[in-house]
Amino acid sequence: MKIFIDSANLEDIEEGVSYGVVDGVTTNPSLIAKEGADIHSRIRQICEIVDGPISAEVVATEWEEMVEEGRDLSQIHENVVVKVPVGPEGLRAAKKLREENIDTNVTLIFSPSQALLAAKAGASYVSPFVGRLDDITQPGMEMVRDIVQIFQNYDFATQVLVASVRNPLHFLEAAKMGADVATLPVAVVRQLLKHPLTDIGLEKFLADWHKASELR
Ligand code: G3P
Repeated sequence: MKIFIDSANLEDIEEGVSYGVVDGVTTNPSLIAKEGADIHSRIRQICEIVDGPISAEVVATEWEEMVEEGRDLSQIHENVVVKVPVGPEGLRAAKKLREENIDTNVTLIFSPSQALLAAKAGASYVSPFVGRLDDITQPGMEMVRDIVQIFQNYDFATQVLVASVRNPLHFLEAAKMGADVATLPVAVVRQLLKHPLTDIGLEKFLADWHKASELR
């Protein structure tokens, strides 16, 4: 499974890259706004840090303007993937961008049906938001299981990019289900690396080592 960092913060992205586990980055308008950065310069900076797919989202709401924005964003770097929201306008934009050989990530997906239609429209990635479904007591990972199954049934090339990942369980279940990508905050990456028995074991190794060293 590929791991993307879900952030526009350069330090967070660099930390994830330092662990040797990062294959790409996803951003969204809120993440860009949080940094107070210009999207073009920030996406260009991210492309210089990570040699992989970098998602940059349009903010237009009409498909023609989405396409214009998408063309502009795709000019930043060859690794840019244009994010468009699922819906009538987003699918029209995704179809047109596909015809122009521009990769898209159809986002804000909350049902398997939305994912299926986005794949048929030619999306390179679909982004089901699992955490936001969990937030309203709907099992987000069940949606991912259905999407993975549907895409396998019809051999779609579109990749399932699990988003709104809030905890290690989301990540583990995504991997077990065969999702193509999970995008997550670097804080979740840190959580994935932690285990109390690892800490306890290392502490004992070092204590035994130093004790023996003192006896020599
Ligand atoms: O960036 C898309 C998605 O990962 C956002 O996650 O935590 O804002 O629901 P979240």
